[in-house]
Amino acid sequence: MSERVLIVDFGSQVTQLIARRVREAGVYCEIHPFNRVTVDSIRDFGAKAVILSGGPASVTEAGSPRAPQGLFEMGLPILGICYGQQTLCEQLGGKVEPGHHREFGRAMLKLAEPCALFDGVAAKGDEVQVWMSHGDRVTAIPAGFKVVATSEGAPFAAIANAEKRIYGVQFHPEVVHTPIGKQLLSNFVHKIAGCAGDWTMKAFKAQEIAKVRAQVGSGRVICGLSGGVDSSVVAALLHEAIGDQLTCVFVDTGFMRSGEADQVVSLFRDRFNIKLVHKDASDLFLDKLAGLTDPEKKRKIIGATFIDVFEEEAKAVGGADFLAQGTLYPDVIESVSFTGGPSVTIKSHHNVGGLPERMNMKLVEPLRELFKDEVRELGRELGLPDDMVGRHPFPGPGLAIRIPGQPLTRENLDILRKADAVYLDEIRKAGLYDQIWQAFAVLLPVRTVGVMGDSRSYDYACALRAVTSTDGMTADFYPFDMAFIGRVANRIINEVKGINRVTYDVTSKPPGTIEWE
Ligand code: XMP
Repeated sequence: MSERVLIVDFGSQVTQLIARRVREAGVYCEIHPFNRVTVDSIRDFGAKAVILSGGPASVTEAGSPRAPQGLFEMGLPILGICYGQQTLCEQLGGKVEPGHHREFGRAMLKLAEPCALFDGVAAKGDEVQVWMSHGDRVTAIPAGFKVVATSEGAPFAAIANAEKRIYGVQFHPEVVHTPIGKQLLSNFVHKIAGCAGDWTMKAFKAQEIAKVRAQVGSGRVICGLSGGVDSSVVAALLHEAIGDQLTCVFVDTGFMRSGEADQVVSLFRDRFNIKLVHKDASDLFLDKLAGLTDPEKKRKIIGATFIDVFEEEAKAVGGADFLAQGTLYPDVIESVSFTGGPSVTIKSHHNVGGLPERMNMKLVEPLRELFKDEVRELGRELGLPDDMVGRHPFPGPGLAIRIPGQPLTRENLDILRKADAVYLDEIRKAGLYDQIWQAFAVLLPVRTVGVMGDSRSYDYACALRAVTSTDGMTADFYPFDMAFIGRVANRIINEVKGINRVTYDVTSKPPGTIEWE
């Protein structure tokens, strides 16, 4: 087992980023909610170091969360961040007081003492930019600690007990606005905790393959392949682990993008030699959605029809003992929620909801410990082509939720598919694909008058959407230059029969959503 760091979550919005930075430093780590962490659980986990996260509570309030007191006697290196620093100070005999003014945003940190945390980034007397977000502040540090850095609002901005390897920082090293933060966390796990940093995707792949083999034995596994990154990586990994015990089912809803179905089949069946059932269910989906325009009704019918078709195809190949799913780490982190008290919220998504119970299958989820960009790296490690692993997200209901306000027909799906393909082609040619979270065309339910050559046209308008985002939860529109938009509009109007007007959507999320429906 590789060396592991435990992150105790006190409910900060950015706890996941601590995990990202630690993993980027080549060290495996997990986030556990504070109310599940005990001295025994830390020992069982095999932690080589512990990081205490920030959080929204105040240590000055009765009943606010604490780290297990015994943690400080375990001899493990500890780094407390923001609330984590405050609770470790308070628990070790220091003092925390409510702040008279909140310090929020960029602050300058001044190094007062040499400290291993700042090795290679700042020396005594240097000033560096950090990101602060706190109300309370430490006003007296525990015995044995030294102040190693100060800021205007936090006289104890970084403290250290080098002998016991316990450190605390008031600022957030995990966010990008603390440019030295990445190095600081790397220093903590490598130089202070002595982790080798040998957690690589290659090692992870080997470990997961062994786990899958142990879990599945000689059982049969079925996997719904959508053409998206997550299910593709699951399929490639399982195939490498269990070969022909895996059958993939690709349900073609008819709402896929241009060429997508062919790409999936040729990559997985022809190149990877995976047993693949390709079910063209487009007639059924169109039938079930005939005449419907309400977005929620469409989504529900598509979801239910998908499960029916998948189940039928799974039965047709003789059923399976396991269902493989591309669940990712952000979906399984039991993060601490402070809305309505320190309760534990477990988010779990089922791409083919209800099926495992209905068909009496157990779940195989080999990506449960990975973040999205790690999944991409694993995909590359498994030999999936770059254009597959770097793909933009695509919603399950596909193009069906990109034709608002008018019934779905093969004709309007075709028009949209063509416009979308031209748009993405231009984005790729301009070298912008990887800077954009998601880009797509939407076919609008209005026809407008145009003039083409000498004749009048009366065709549909389409909207182009492109957003930047890190997780799909919030998003900004992508600021293309107008010449680019003009070029795309020109090509769509000239090449796609049925569209004579193009608009660009400049709505952020919130208040908009990424998809139009
Ligand atoms: P919204 O439109 O809610 O989308 O801002 C956020 C992200 O989720 C994707 N999305 C879906 N993905 N099934 C999916 O697998 C769905 O029903 C679905 N609806 C939206 C959307 O494309 C964006 O990436």
